[in-house]
Amino acid sequence: MERLQKILSQAGIASRRASEELMTQGRVTVNGAPVRELGTKADPAVDDIRVDGRRVKSAERPRYVLLNKPKGYVTTRSDPQRRATVMELLKAVREYIYPVGRLDFDTEGLLLLTNDGELAAQLTHPRHEVARVYEVKVAGVPDAHDLSRVAKGVPIDGRRTEPAHVEMLEGKDDRHATLRITIAEGRNRQVRRMFDSIGHPVDYLRRIAIGPLKDPKLKPGHWRDLTPGEVAALKRSAKPVGLPKPREVAKAAASNGTTPKTERARTAGSKVGTTRPKVSTPPARGGKSYERRPRRP
Ligand code: URA
Repeated sequence: MERLQKILSQAGIASRRASEELMTQGRVTVNGAPVRELGTKADPAVDDIRVDGRRVKSAERPRYVLLNKPKGYVTTRSDPQRRATVMELLKAVREYIYPVGRLDFDTEGLLLLTNDGELAAQLTHPRHEVARVYEVKVAGVPDAHDLSRVAKGVPIDGRRTEPAHVEMLEGKDDRHATLRITIAEGRNRQVRRMFDSIGHPVDYLRRIAIGPLKDPKLKPGHWRDLTPGEVAALKRSAKPVGLPKPREVAKAAASNGTTPKTERARTAGSKVGTTRPKVSTPPARGGKSYERRPRRP
């Protein structure tokens, strides 16, 4: 006999914590009866264990899928409001994969789905610091002061966001600017709320990298399995680092830069006095980079 949340995570349904949530939501049944009690044990060899009515089989093969989510899909397996979910784009995948983290209904871009509960838990854990990179089009043109506020952290729900890397990309006109922002947190509607807080609401948002994963050739609505090399890189990047979050931010940002490091990028953070590694990345061509040394954890 094992605890239900352990059985579910070993079967690749969800992390242990997420499995507990499934239980408290009444979505887990054992022999036909919903089980909300978190200490409950069961025997997968004997008991009929189901999540959302679907039989839990022991240990499916791990599957790692990268989807380019188009606008107009919710990032969930099932939506009570009956909106289109990302799962409709993944009908050919037989395994019980689920989204790791979330993209808003209106956000496009890379979304990882897996049945590897362990990795999913690591990637979404705040201490694991996997950087996500977004391309953002905002209303109006933020000035250097606005961008440095975003980079240093802005209060959202009474808590300041972690240091971020922000750079202005080419293509601004009088009414819009396009930027790239790298963050290592996954708070609800975080990028939109960060730009709202400086008075430049987001018109368009697309995720272009999750840690080491990127694929500019993957078209919206299309997906592919990760390569073994990508899975290994992702697992490495999801390890607890015990260092300030922006280190991971800096790594991902640097690997997404399109031009060689310039003197400006190397020296831009030098005014802030701390020995911690700074968030640093080459600016896009013609772009300006705003960076911030991290606070101590
Ligand atoms: N930040 C947002 O505001 N929305 C997303 O979908 C992802 C990050």
